[in-house]
Formats: sequence, C-alpha cells, structure tokens
Amino acid sequence: MLEVKALSRKFPGADRAALDSVSFSVSRGECVVVSGANGSGKSVLMSLIAGLDRPTSGAVRLGEGTVPEPRVGLVFQDADSQILGDTPIEDVAYGPINLGLSRADARALARDTLARMGLAGRETVPARSLSGGEKRRLAVAGILAMDAEIVILDEPYANLDWPGVVQVNGIVRELKALGKTVLVLTHELEKVLALADRLLVLFRGSLVYDGEPEAALESEPLADWGIRNPLGSYAHVGDLEWTAGPGRAP
Ligand SMILES: Nc1ncnc2c1ncn2[C@@H]1O[C@H](COP(=O)(O)OP(=O)(O)OP(=O)(O)O)[C@@H](O)[C@H]1O
Ligand SMILES: [Mg+2]
Repeated sequence: MLEVKALSRKFPGADRAALDSVSFSVSRGECVVVSGANGSGKSVLMSLIAGLDRPTSGAVRLGEGTVPEPRVGLVFQDADSQILGDTPIEDVAYGPINLGLSRADARALARDTLARMGLAGRETVPARSLSGGEKRRLAVAGILAMDAEIVILDEPYANLDWPGVVQVNGIVRELKALGKTVLVLTHELEKVLALADRLLVLFRGSLVYDGEPEAALESEPLADWGIRNPLGSYAHVGDLEWTAGPGRAP
C-alpha cells in the first residue's frame, strides 16, 4: 500500500539530513507506530508521504499499481490548524465540495461521517469549541469523507488528557476496523503500542528499527534513541518521576 525507498530530505544549511535513506513498506490494513525523539524526522517523513514536501532523493510509492493512487489523509499535531470550517459539518463538507460533490450531497456525507466519528448532534456547534479529542475526531471525519485509504496521525496524543487519549485510540480502532492503513507518529509508546502491528523507530533521520513491537521493548536500546521503554515502569510513588534512567546522564 505504501513503499518508501531510500528516502532522504536535507534542508538547505542543515548539517545533517532530516531524513537519511529511509526504506520500508506498509501493507494494506496495517497499523504502524512510527516512533522517535523530537527532531528524529517523523513529521518530515509524513510530509513526504503525503506529497506536501519533495525528497532530496529516494521515492514514495502509493498503492499497488492501482490508478488513481490511494489518498493519504493527515491529522496534524496542531488540531486547530486543520479546521477550515466554522462548524463541523461545514468543515467536513469542504473537501467533498472541492472534489465536485453538490453542496447537499457533501453535507449529507459529512453528517454520516461525523456520526461515524461519534460527533452526531455536534454538527453545527462552533468548531473551535470542540475539545482536543473531538477536534482530532473532526479531522478524521474530514479524511474519511475524502475517502482516504492511508491515514497518518502526527503526535495525536499531544496535549490530550486521559479521556482524550482514549478517544484518539477509539479512532485508531475504528480506522483499523474500516480496513484503513494507519500510521501513528508518536514518541508515547505507552499510549498506543498495543494497537500496532509493527513499530518503526527513527533516530536522527535514520530508520533504526522496523519490526515487532514486543521484540523492540524486550531487546532494543530504545533509551539510546531517546524513547522511554514503558514496560514495568511504576510500582511505588517513588517511581513517579521520569529520570534519564540507570547509568544515563540526567
Ligand atoms: N522546513 C524545515 N526547514 C528546515 N529544517 C526542518 C524543516 N522541517 C523540519 N526540519 C528539521 O528536520 C528535523 C526533523 O524534524 P521533524 O519535524 O520531522 O521531527 P519530529 O520527529 O517530527 O519531531 P517532534 O517529535 O518534535 O515532532 C529537525 O532537525 C528539524 O529541525
Ligand atoms: Mg513532529
């Protein structure tokens, strides 16, 4: 469904590539968590996959030779920046209207899609008044109304409280149930890894892990890549401080 071949992106003036010859492929319906510390290249990778940016070298192939190529839907880290309409129904109808649907058909589709995302009854409230979790559900409704096959969520847990995180994971489950191919970009493994079929880890622009989530937690040097291993974390109040870890500089 998605093939990334020797993908590199170097920004002018940067001393190293933001993405350095990254290769992997994702099958239809797979749910992949892409992890990595701040600045490891997750968002750059997303922009290249979605065609918002061009690689310095390498290529992204979408679909399985099918024409037209499958659409890629993005949920940005900053949920607010993605809202174009004043209300959820206008926001979701916007894309289908641009694709040529009549206003009435687009609004009917938007209504259905919002209901699927648990936003029935909220169609005409001010979009800005939605909670963080609801805004992400709104973004996904917009993506589904555009019939995207591949959905990429960039740091979908940023700024969300516990119920918000649970809401986002509800979306991930729903997307999986719909057979979508899902990429979740996050450094917060403890919030989502159980939903992943596969884990990819980026470190300073290079792909350092591509495999089973479980094997990564058991035997890979996650801490060296700036990712906290969430297994076996807390047993006592004294454990409730995130430190650099045994033998690591603070
Ligand atoms: N438009 C740009 N111009 C120059 N450098 C950029 C640009 N976009 C990203 N970079 C650089 O590319 C590297 C990777 O950035 P990226 O945003 O992909 O990291 P990330 O893994 O998404 O981090 P975070 O967890 O903070 O979101 C960083 O060093 C960043 O400064
Ligand atoms: Mg990012």
